[in-house]
Amino acid sequence: MLLRILGTAAGGGIPQWNCACPGCTGARHHPSRRRLHDGLALQPADSGAWFLANATPDIAEQLESHPGLRPDAGQERTPVVRIVLTDAELDHTLGLLRLREASRIDIWCTEPVRKALTTRLALNEVLAPYTTLNWYDLPLAGAEHPAEMGGLDVSAIPLSAKRPRYAADEPAHPAWSTALKISDRATGKTALYASALATWNDRLDDEIADADCVLIDGTFLTDDEPYRTGFSQRTASAMGHLPIEGPHGTALRLQGSGGQILYTHLNNSNPLVDPDDPAHERLAGLGLGVAADRMVVSL
Ligand code: MLT
Ligand code: MN
Ligand code: ZN
Repeated sequence: MLLRILGTAAGGGIPQWNCACPGCTGARHHPSRRRLHDGLALQPADSGAWFLANATPDIAEQLESHPGLRPDAGQERTPVVRIVLTDAELDHTLGLLRLREASRIDIWCTEPVRKALTTRLALNEVLAPYTTLNWYDLPLAGAEHPAEMGGLDVSAIPLSAKRPRYAADEPAHPAWSTALKISDRATGKTALYASALATWNDRLDDEIADADCVLIDGTFLTDDEPYRTGFSQRTASAMGHLPIEGPHGTALRLQGSGGQILYTHLNNSNPLVDPDDPAHERLAGLGLGVAADRMVVSL
């Protein structure tokens, strides 16, 4: 399969429109440091079909930036878009509104995510005059039948009850925030995509050991980063994102994993948005990398 990395930034993007922090200013001076919101396009090995994982506010530019995702010559439009969602966060779902020119949008997600999008954001009502939304249950990993997306089997690993701020009063549910497990039936290769790790879940150890590529929460480098940079009063963990470094950081757990590990969903406060920051070398020393926009991972 091909994993086309459409973007690698956390909510707000880099630069963020209202921010002049060093990361955002650096991206204004060096366009190669710009990062769009995190999302993927997935292509099974045995077909040219593509599927989106998350629909970011940047989705139209993201599809345009990968030649393989533009409409085929001879086929004037892309009529159907197929999307699997990790959660209901605005940075992963606002793109659904931008895709309204499709004649149909097929969406796979967990039950609390569908409920938030259809009741709190009223997407069915808002989009009905433009397009048709078809909702499908995203099965949990280990269920008898994963979702079939072309030659890919896709399922969800529940990560946490972290819900979007617009749905903060909704009941807790373990599958508000999930990791996607994506397996290619033709090649047997597996990818894991987890952009919001609120806590470590022991099940992840096994799933990561089995995965050929892991795209994982790299929102904050250290736990104190949000309050040290004045971005929030809270720690990274309290904001629902385990930090990369430090005693409870994910780097210690991920080092030595067999597959390719790439951090994504970087916040603009993260020192890693500067390619010269020494943290890149420290992570490389542990066998860990940082995803880049427009990167293509071939498995
Ligand atoms: C998150 O990743 O924690 C959310 O997307 C934050 C947000 O954009 O509001
Ligand atoms: Mn986010
Ligand atoms: Zn900034």
